Amino acid sequence: MNVLVINGHPNLANSFANAEILKLLAQQTEWQIAHAADFSGDIATEQQRLLAADLIVVQFPLYWSTFPSVMKEWIDQVFTYGFAFGPEGSQLKGKKLLFSITAGATAASYSESGFNFMPLENYQRSFEHAFKAAEMEILDTVVTFEMNAIPEEGGDVVKTLALAQEHTQQIINVVNAHIG
Ligand SMILES: Cc1cc2nc3c(=O)[nH]c(=O)nc-3n(C[C@H](O)[C@H](O)[C@H](O)COP(=O)(O)O)c2cc1C
Repeated sequence: MNVLVINGHPNLANSFANAEILKLLAQQTEWQIAHAADFSGDIATEQQRLLAADLIVVQFPLYWSTFPSVMKEWIDQVFTYGFAFGPEGSQLKGKKLLFSITAGATAASYSESGFNFMPLENYQRSFEHAFKAAEMEILDTVVTFEMNAIPEEGGDVVKTLALAQEHTQQIINVVNAHIG
């Protein structure tokens, strides 16, 4: 089975959570990892990579309750008419997809009375738009909250790395349950 991870982190050199998750996935799986930040503009290669995958893990840190701009740019370029949508249908139709998301905030902050204004599910309806338009099969969304490792912002490196390990295991379990 060909599992492809699309990493939407803009700069892994400044990452704790996503860098740790990707490091562990590289150690523990045979999955391919592609980086939206490294996208060169070669749309055909990127589309071919998606077509060749049996399951795609869309991995990103939550920025303003959606994916970072490098991932948006990647989607804008790669999810083209005739490939991801259009009258002929989508070539990605039925392709399995899993969202793997790291978040700095607490789960409780994602409520009508919390400082993130509404449940994450509401924001998700927007950030999954392209994938739904492409008729992909969204299997699950794994979110880990409180992944803040920046000390000046009240973060905790040890806790974040421990959460990243748990998160990685969850992702591996979900993927194995669907491709096993
Ligand atoms: C520009 C920016 C916006 C962010 N917005 C959110 C947000 O809306 N909700 C949230 O839970 N965390 C937010 N965060 C925190 C990140 O999600 C968190 O730092 C990240 O998931 C940790 O992963 P990393 O160590 O791989 O960078 C934001 C961080 C940055 C830099």
